[in-house]
Amino acid sequence: MSLVAIGACYVDTILTTPHYPGEDEKLRASSISRRRGGNCPNTLEVLQQLTADLSLDLVAILPAKSSSASRQIQSAFEPHISLAHCIYREELSEPASSYIIKSQSSGSRTIVNYNELPEMTVAEFTNIADYLDPKTSWFHFEGRIPDVTLSCICYLRRQYPSVKISVELEKPGRPGLQELAEEADVVFYSKSWAQGNGYQTAEECIQKQSVIARKASLLCCTWGQNGAVALETKSKSMIHSPAYSAVDFKVVDTIGAGDTFIAGMLYAWLCQGDKWNLSQKLGFANRIAGMKVSQEGFAGLKRALESFNSQ
Ligand SMILES: Nc1ncnc2c1ncn2[C@@H]1O[C@H](COP(=O)(O)OP(=O)(O)OP(=O)(O)O)[C@@H](O)[C@H]1O
Ligand SMILES: *[C@@H]1O[C@H](CO)[C@@H](O)[C@H](O)[C@H]1NC(C)=O
Repeated sequence: MSLVAIGACYVDTILTTPHYPGEDEKLRASSISRRRGGNCPNTLEVLQQLTADLSLDLVAILPAKSSSASRQIQSAFEPHISLAHCIYREELSEPASSYIIKSQSSGSRTIVNYNELPEMTVAEFTNIADYLDPKTSWFHFEGRIPDVTLSCICYLRRQYPSVKISVELEKPGRPGLQELAEEADVVFYSKSWAQGNGYQTAEECIQKQSVIARKASLLCCTWGQNGAVALETKSKSMIHSPAYSAVDFKVVDTIGAGDTFIAGMLYAWLCQGDKWNLSQKLGFANRIAGMKVSQEGFAGLKRALESFNSQ
């Protein structure tokens, strides 16, 4: 089985500061680090640790193939994650960039983005989709450029009706994301999207969205330290699962917690299927996301699977 994830790939520069700076404040960071970011790349990085049964493909816009950013991304991903269908903007050399301030006192992260790379067009995507068919069975979209993404999804529905589609709705106040949910088989809502749309709780978001996202078989909404809620429409069962916490649990790094949750859930949904019930799937996704929150980066998250299986 194969999964293609379509979304932005960022190079993150992370400044760790003792507290979050106020406007106009002068503050000394205690460390600086660089790493690759972006929702889909994060999700793929976690997924490839969990299973060798999924062939994984990233579709992202990158600068020139020979640029140092593109070469670094290639060496980090290949051969486990294929970049064969990435789109290279040969005239540009800067990757999409994210500058992150991470406050040690709260564990929060504040992100400023910069991106000069022209976005993927529908024609670029349909070329890729035609090439990938019929190998690809699952397309996961980061809900970024809603109108383009919607056209891509509609193209897949028309041309390749057996393909399954998931979307992540993360950024609040981006019009058009709702329409993506209405077309998808699996929808991941973030707390910030839910709150931005007037929902007070994850349950409320899922309940009301289940009336709107009529084609979906699975809806999930994450809620930070309150865990997540999932609804399987086939059995009409809605389940809440608390966030994972171990005895010595400490928040270290929340960047990509939602992306890790998605990786955990996609793994459970695609690779465990009926072997795990919904509460096990959700429990696993929370566990791996919680383990991510308690460490830097995404390395070694396979242990979530080992500890889950032995509980
Ligand atoms: N403080 C925490 N303690 C334990 N688990 C957490 C905590 N914060 C997040 N998580 C886990 O991560 C999941 C996703 O968190 P959250 O809703 O904050 O994602 P997000 O803000 O979309 O993350 P990102 O955008 O950085 O990927 C939660 O459902 C939960 O399982
Ligand atoms: C899911 O499976 C677990 C483990 O077998 C079981 O304890 C739990 O009761 C089941 N939950 C539901 C909702 O069926």
